[in-house]
Amino acid sequence: MKTSLTGIKPTGIPHLGNYFGAIRPALELAQECRSIYFIADYHALTAERNPETLNAHIYDVTATWLACGLDPQRTIVFRQSSVIEVFELTWIFACIVATGQLERGHSYKDALAKGEAPNAGLLNYPLLMAADIILYDTDFVPVGNDQSQHLELARDIAIRMNHLYGEKTVVVPQAKLAATPQVPGLDGRKMSKSYGNSIPLIVASKELHELVIKIKSDSTPLEQPKEPEGAHAFELFKAIASKAESQEVARKLRAGGYGWGHLKKELFERLDSDLAPIRERYHDLRDDRKRLDDILENGAERARVKARETISRVRRAVGIDAKKP
Ligand code: ADP
Ligand code: TRP
Repeated sequence: MKTSLTGIKPTGIPHLGNYFGAIRPALELAQECRSIYFIADYHALTAERNPETLNAHIYDVTATWLACGLDPQRTIVFRQSSVIEVFELTWIFACIVATGQLERGHSYKDALAKGEAPNAGLLNYPLLMAADIILYDTDFVPVGNDQSQHLELARDIAIRMNHLYGEKTVVVPQAKLAATPQVPGLDGRKMSKSYGNSIPLIVASKELHELVIKIKSDSTPLEQPKEPEGAHAFELFKAIASKAESQEVARKLRAGGYGWGHLKKELFERLDSDLAPIRERYHDLRDDRKRLDDILENGAERARVKARETISRVRRAVGIDAKKP
């Protein structure tokens, strides 16, 4: 059985883009793979300075994934920081990666371009991510397009490790890019926390309704035919509804007499009914810190077993520990 692994940065309650682009595909992959999905808390520390916020987000994100259907029996779920072997592997990788390769990292370059003074954590971010992946002998990494460069570096590192220290030192991972195209936000740009244009996954009905109404649409009069493809409300509808339902809505839009307001009403009703059970499970879980801690600690114990196996293999391969006769 293949292993699928992904890291989730605890930066707040996930939005619909995260749900369709990351959570749902990862949970689907967990049906056919051994799965390891962890909270990348030390990655979040590169940008979060408020301790209370960081800590709260760790639980927000854990509760969200569980509410969306992550089964903690089947999937190993834990906090990155609970398995300290990952930092040892990060160091080993730091010793074989050229600094130039890290300087070409897009998050680091973007921060420089914005005139910020990026911290060393941001520069080394892709090294920790490669260690996250390679520590668990990962085959598949479900991620969005924005993570492709990080995945390429993780693959390069794995290939280089095997070249330097022997063919089977580590497993070379492969990205599994989400099939869902980018989910648009309220203003039509990519839905993103940083653009302030997102619809959170966990939100009360009334607020959800207000947000859906705000989705940007053109002012074609109600009776005129409309082109669904590329319209933001329709793209969102496509992400949540079946193909047949989307085709039916597209037909109504093209026929005329069906306005963006009608589509938004259908979209809201569909989102609200699909998200209501997730919302309810979320609140139950989020209020139960003990249960969340137990789930995360149980996952960490299982993760440590695998991590220790890999780290001993790598320590022997690089010559820190003596090879077994
Ligand atoms: P944000 O842009 O809101 O900060 P993140 O960078 O935390 O989101 O995204 C985590 C993952 O969620 C990404 O790797 C990507 O796979 C997915 N994702 C984020 N936004 C979208 C979107 N608008 N459409 C599809 N997938 C998305
Ligand atoms: N960098 C990823 C993001 O921003 C989060 C992450 C950390 C990750 N470690 C990982 C993703 C390992 C996949 C595998 O979304």
